[in-house]
Amino acid sequence: MITAEGLTKRFGDKTAVQNVSFTVQPGSVTGFLGPNGAGKSTTMRLIVGLDRPTSGVATIGGREYRGLRAPLTEVGVLLDAKAVHTGRTARNHLRAMAATHGIPASRVDEVIDLAGIGSVARKRAGKFSLGMGQRLGIASALLGDPHTLILDEPVNGLDPEGVRWVRQFVRHAASEGRTVLLSSHLMSEMAQTADHVIVMGRGQVLADAPLDELVRAWTRNTVRVRTPRAADLAAAVGGPDVEIVSSAPDLLDIVGLPAARIGDLAADRGIPLHELTPTTGSLEDAYLALTGEAVEYRTKEIS
Ligand SMILES: Nc1ncnc2c1ncn2[C@@H]1O[C@H](COP(=O)(O)OP(=O)(O)OP(=O)(O)O)[C@@H](O)[C@H]1O
Ligand SMILES: [Mg+2]
Repeated sequence: MITAEGLTKRFGDKTAVQNVSFTVQPGSVTGFLGPNGAGKSTTMRLIVGLDRPTSGVATIGGREYRGLRAPLTEVGVLLDAKAVHTGRTARNHLRAMAATHGIPASRVDEVIDLAGIGSVARKRAGKFSLGMGQRLGIASALLGDPHTLILDEPVNGLDPEGVRWVRQFVRHAASEGRTVLLSSHLMSEMAQTADHVIVMGRGQVLADAPLDELVRAWTRNTVRVRTPRAADLAAAVGGPDVEIVSSAPDLLDIVGLPAARIGDLAADRGIPLHELTPTTGSLEDAYLALTGEAVEYRTKEIS
């Protein structure tokens, strides 16, 4: 279990993280979301003692990171995959890390295989592509077979095979009872990976909830209806709590009524339906609704 209690981190007059508290439970994958600059990486750095909090405390399994006797065997961390000695081969980088913890060379070869970098393990890490570097970072995190994984954007730069591997790997780790905290900006990937999500914005926690609960709370179910008598159907289903958007003459997107009710109302009036499709909101929809106010670096809207 990872616990953050009132974590605050100021860099000069910039408050990167403000009074952040949460717990990350073992046995599930917790997704860590938030716009660029929200404070996710800083929070992760505070948890593993790479930054010192201005106030508050973070613990892993009840102890502060600096109090862990063999940190590699307790927490696997991927924060900056570029943090390798560029002149060393990947294998030697891992062997040097392993040596600090008495981890045998056989485990080094195991994680090289796991991360799929066998063919380049004897090449200098400085020459690695983005994805290869990322895989080496993941191999480092797994070296000590830790009970807790803290991975900052692990799938950034990975090819589709690598993305799927990370998803399956962390799901499996959670199923073994491990604690997994994982950040990513890829909402569709996160939707398939995480059980629980913590969303940050402007240094604060905006939401901390099971993924399906968050999606339910921040999106609305829509029913897409296609009918040659759209105006008649719109009149039939209309009401104070029903919202109807029509983007084509034969098309209605209806919010506020279940599909079955719409179908019944149409049948009562003999209105033919050519399509009746209920759609549930996505994590992306929920995320955008939730973080709308907290985005610091906004792109221009395409109209
Ligand atoms: N060492 C530092 N010195 C000064 N400011 C910093 C430092 N590290 C982080 N910050 C600032 O703290 C804020 C939070 O940054 P952080 O990297 O934690 O965001 P993030 O949520 O990880 O964003 P991203 O999604 O872009 O990775 C940003 O405004 C950043 O500029
Ligand atoms: Mg970050």
